[in-house]
Amino acid sequence: MKENILKFPKNFLWGAATSAHQVEGENINNDWWRWEQLGKIKDGSVSGRACDHYRLFENDFKMARELEHNIHRLSIEWSRIEPLPGKWNLEEIDHYRKVLDSLKENNIKAMVTLHHFTNPLWFADLGGWKNKDAAFYFSRFAEFIAKELGDKIDFWITINEPCIYTSRGYLESDWPPERRSIFAARQVMNNMAKAHRGAYRKIHQVLKNGNIDAWVGMAKNNIFYEPYCKYNPFDRILVLILRYLTNFLFLNKIKKELDFIGLNYYFHCKSRFNPLKIRNSFAEIKNDNKKVSDFGWEIYPKGIYEVLMELKKYNKPIFITENGVADKNDVYRSKFILDHLKEIHRAIQDGVNIKGYLHWSLLDNFEWKEGFKMRFGLIEVDFKSYERRIRKSAKVFAKVCKNNSLNNL
Ligand code: GCO
Repeated sequence: MKENILKFPKNFLWGAATSAHQVEGENINNDWWRWEQLGKIKDGSVSGRACDHYRLFENDFKMARELEHNIHRLSIEWSRIEPLPGKWNLEEIDHYRKVLDSLKENNIKAMVTLHHFTNPLWFADLGGWKNKDAAFYFSRFAEFIAKELGDKIDFWITINEPCIYTSRGYLESDWPPERRSIFAARQVMNNMAKAHRGAYRKIHQVLKNGNIDAWVGMAKNNIFYEPYCKYNPFDRILVLILRYLTNFLFLNKIKKELDFIGLNYYFHCKSRFNPLKIRNSFAEIKNDNKKVSDFGWEIYPKGIYEVLMELKKYNKPIFITENGVADKNDVYRSKFILDHLKEIHRAIQDGVNIKGYLHWSLLDNFEWKEGFKMRFGLIEVDFKSYERRIRKSAKVFAKVCKNNSLNNL
């Protein structure tokens, strides 16, 4: 009996995630690359060659296979495929065809993200996601990828973390395009929701014509909000509002066009109502912070159970599409993974339909505004020699992947 108590469902998928701009290198045709050249990155770096994954993907996927992964999440860089509006770069299509074939050769399923924070320069210069035609441009790109590569993609993620993208770029203004406007943020969110719906329909139309089966979803960064004082009505109302705006609003706009929900879980926010914290939605975060990562983010495994239980009401299959920890010396990562998997297992036992777990990230990579300081990789990368080294925690995770259980580690 004990043997089964920490077993995962049959055909549960195990792997890791990356994104094109963070790992490939030389993504010179997008808004992040242009923005980085202005000295905006905290450690003074630019994405540059990143992990040189554009060249080394075959080696990286062989290592993922050695680590017992059977699914891998990557993104296809829009600015490579469509360098000018309506102009398709077929050499880049050939490159991604080789990438997807390499996953197949390693018996690893492909989960492909179409938008992971970066935009083609031409799209950004037309107003980006504020542009009323943004959904048209994005759906056209999605349709093109479905026609060219649809037979090699098992799971689609249209947009990664629309709420993070919108808040950082249009409210906190510390990511491109560095705007600060609630009106603009609302327009962007609505355009991204419209873009997801359009891309969903286009992809399924192409797949249906080709008699291809695949799931189309999106990746949400949901946060475990709880009131600082559960007896304080202001804290309780604040948490209800934050939870609605961050965790549910976007999903409610797209839930009819959604085969699965991708959950990216990182954050716990014990929130106290503070009328002076206007720019932080009147919320003061009062976490205990007993354990924090190199990033200073609280390590709070119980929170993934809570956000998974909140998602049950959508009655959709769920993948954990990101969960990870900045941990350069690999001191917390093994326990981080096992503690979060125990909470995921508990959520499955309590009726949440979870289909897989993809750790963020396969490789140390370019962590946006932080540059290369924050190390999230199961595989360590030397950014001078581009050599890879499998971390101890990756081997612990490999045992879980192989056994499909948390027993006998
Ligand atoms: C995000 C992104 C990833 C990050 C990861 C660590 O959630 O911001 O999807 O690109 O690198 O989450 O912050």
